[in-house]
Amino acid sequence: NVVIETVKTALGWVPAQWLPGGTPDPLIERRVALGRQDSRLDGPAKVTGLARFAAEVPMERLCYGALLHSTVTRGRIARLDTAAAEAAPGVVLVMTHRNMPRIGTLALIGVSDLSAVGNSSLPILQNDEVRYNGQVVAAVLAETQEQADHAASLIEIDYAVEAAKTRFDDAKAAARTPASILIERNHVLVGNAAQEVDRAAHRVDNLYRTPGHNHNAIELHAVTVAWQGETLLVHDATQMIAPSANALAKLFGLKKQQVRVLSPYVGGGFGGKGLWDHQVVAVAAAKLVGRPVRLMLSRESVYRMIGGRSPSEQRVAIGADADGRFNAIIHTGYSVMPPYGACPEQYTMCSRALYNAKSFEIVQHHVDLDIVPNTYMRAPGEAIGTFAIECAVDELAHQMGIDPIELRRRNEPERHPLSGTAFSQRALTTAYAEGAQHFGWERRLAEPGARRDGEWRIGMGCASGSFPYARMPGAHVRLTLRRDGTVNLSCSAQEMGMGTSTVQVQHAADRLGLPVEAISFDMGDSALPAGSMAGGSSQTVSLAAAIMAATEKLTGELLRLAGNDSPLAGLRARDVQLVDAGIGDVADTARHESYRSILTRAAREEVSVIAAGSPPLEMLKFAMHSSSAVFCELRVSEVTGEIRIDRLLGSFDCGTILNPKTAASQFKGGMIMGIGLALTEETLFDARNGRIMNATLADYHIPVHLDVPEIDVIWTGIPDPRSPLGARGIGEIGITGVAAAIANAVFNATGKRIRDLPITLDKLL
Ligand code: MOS
Repeated sequence: NVVIETVKTALGWVPAQWLPGGTPDPLIERRVALGRQDSRLDGPAKVTGLARFAAEVPMERLCYGALLHSTVTRGRIARLDTAAAEAAPGVVLVMTHRNMPRIGTLALIGVSDLSAVGNSSLPILQNDEVRYNGQVVAAVLAETQEQADHAASLIEIDYAVEAAKTRFDDAKAAARTPASILIERNHVLVGNAAQEVDRAAHRVDNLYRTPGHNHNAIELHAVTVAWQGETLLVHDATQMIAPSANALAKLFGLKKQQVRVLSPYVGGGFGGKGLWDHQVVAVAAAKLVGRPVRLMLSRESVYRMIGGRSPSEQRVAIGADADGRFNAIIHTGYSVMPPYGACPEQYTMCSRALYNAKSFEIVQHHVDLDIVPNTYMRAPGEAIGTFAIECAVDELAHQMGIDPIELRRRNEPERHPLSGTAFSQRALTTAYAEGAQHFGWERRLAEPGARRDGEWRIGMGCASGSFPYARMPGAHVRLTLRRDGTVNLSCSAQEMGMGTSTVQVQHAADRLGLPVEAISFDMGDSALPAGSMAGGSSQTVSLAAAIMAATEKLTGELLRLAGNDSPLAGLRARDVQLVDAGIGDVADTARHESYRSILTRAAREEVSVIAAGSPPLEMLKFAMHSSSAVFCELRVSEVTGEIRIDRLLGSFDCGTILNPKTAASQFKGGMIMGIGLALTEETLFDARNGRIMNATLADYHIPVHLDVPEIDVIWTGIPDPRSPLGARGIGEIGITGVAAAIANAVFNATGKRIRDLPITLDKLL
């Protein structure tokens, strides 16, 4: 399919603006609904409780599931006694590896592939082997949730324990250096960076450590499943509707059309709402009992069996000449990815694109531990990678006595520093200038500890954020235009709260020359044409490209239907535009026919087309990144070491901002998660027994309202000439750079460099 698409592209099927020399999407200039602060279309249903989440779907004869997790890290189940559980009140089924149906396996080929997605290649309840502490070893179905939970507690298991790899520092010696981190090469050696750092007039060379993190979306992972004859119905909370349907079909030996995954509402997903063991267990258990099953994970279960962010140890060394120009960047390190995982933590990606340097040395090593496989978590890699490189730049600036923004400006690249590829659009310097002005950066005193207010020391810091642009191939949309001038769009897209349908309705309204009220958008259902997943900050442009393609197709279809009796007769698609609820001649605005008129004359109630976005060739031709300048002002108590953030500002350069309200929320949400990364979040992993010790929201600290100051966001809004609508991703950029801006402000306040996240008060005393 990709080959066919590429050939089509070679034949000129790709919109011109995505190729070198092309002109930007003209709609960027004509936007009316886009750029407006429309409120979320899904908002009323959510705030009134009408929105039904996966664990709320009513079903007849429903039974409730509970899971039992391994309490050891590695070994085999030596004794298993389920008698007491089976005899407990209300129990319908106790399922272990003994009676779980045998299922297929998935190839781990990554999230962009729509045919299969899995976070782990480990078998699910298929044998007596335990590979990590917290792995699912049994499931119980009962008439009520309480009965299921109780019965699960009665299952007796003895393990034959085997030695396990649980210590990061010990396992480092045997770390693997895989050939690639996603698309880009993992090993990047340009020049002799080690030698350049040694010879440099100025240098920094330090280690940065970040802990593991767990996902804490407020909606727990949950699924309600039912077998209806040979068809499997799955109400899920997922960022990956089409991929999950395809993967479940493979695992259970079904045809794609036999599996329907529904997920119209998702209560938060930051990379962790994919396909994990619980959906598979629920589907298998439902098959065994012939009844629908609801399986909602407990908060603890989310910690035990849903992967999070990998811990990391990163070395960043930078060498600079007397003027502060970098002659070397070294970014190497270790993160955890077990061999049965599929998600490398790509923390060095940002260091490849942020700065010019004469030489580079970039290498990532994977440490094997016996743990739940890590997964994507908002800006995987970049969130922690920007902490390391952006602290290092600040350290160098301080050492050289140069303002950190000025040092960055001196090393701002004209083209991608490694590939030499042109940036599609990049105005990070502008973002810094505007951010500095808004924030009042000139009030910062370069000398650490110079500003005081009683027991409080006050400091300011800044840092760059970066996240690569991505558009997923193969996203489809069905576009139906009805005679009454209304339009329905549909595809299996996901809504985790970011405004997916709202923004695409604004887009389609402008694209089709209609008001937003005329457009509806159906999504959240794998029975609809396969959209793309919601991840990698890619969904908006992926769907936008599909809508563009569908509009092209619709235009051709309408011109054909218009025929020779139309004022449009003789015009070709390239001669017309869609305006005022119809088609108009670009050259002669008087030549126009409404959709209603065309369809009425053709005796058609509606016209419906399905189209996929063209292959994302712009990603190959251009270096494309969202970027940001993050500013922080905070105070640190001399008495207790407490940190209070007073102000945060994010100045973003992410292309066109399609809806300022939903965009600002995305940016702020990411920045709040960045506060957690900097100051509070940490998965406490007991290396003695491979077990997470703080598997509750009481013990795992995420920022609460009092931790979060006024957050300001501004943006350049400069359209990216190479992307659909001129937009780039905004979902993940918000968290990047924040931890470094905070750490740099802590240094400015106290003179202490904390290179080990989270920055807790004990580290400042
Ligand atoms: Mo994101 S980590 O692509 O949900």
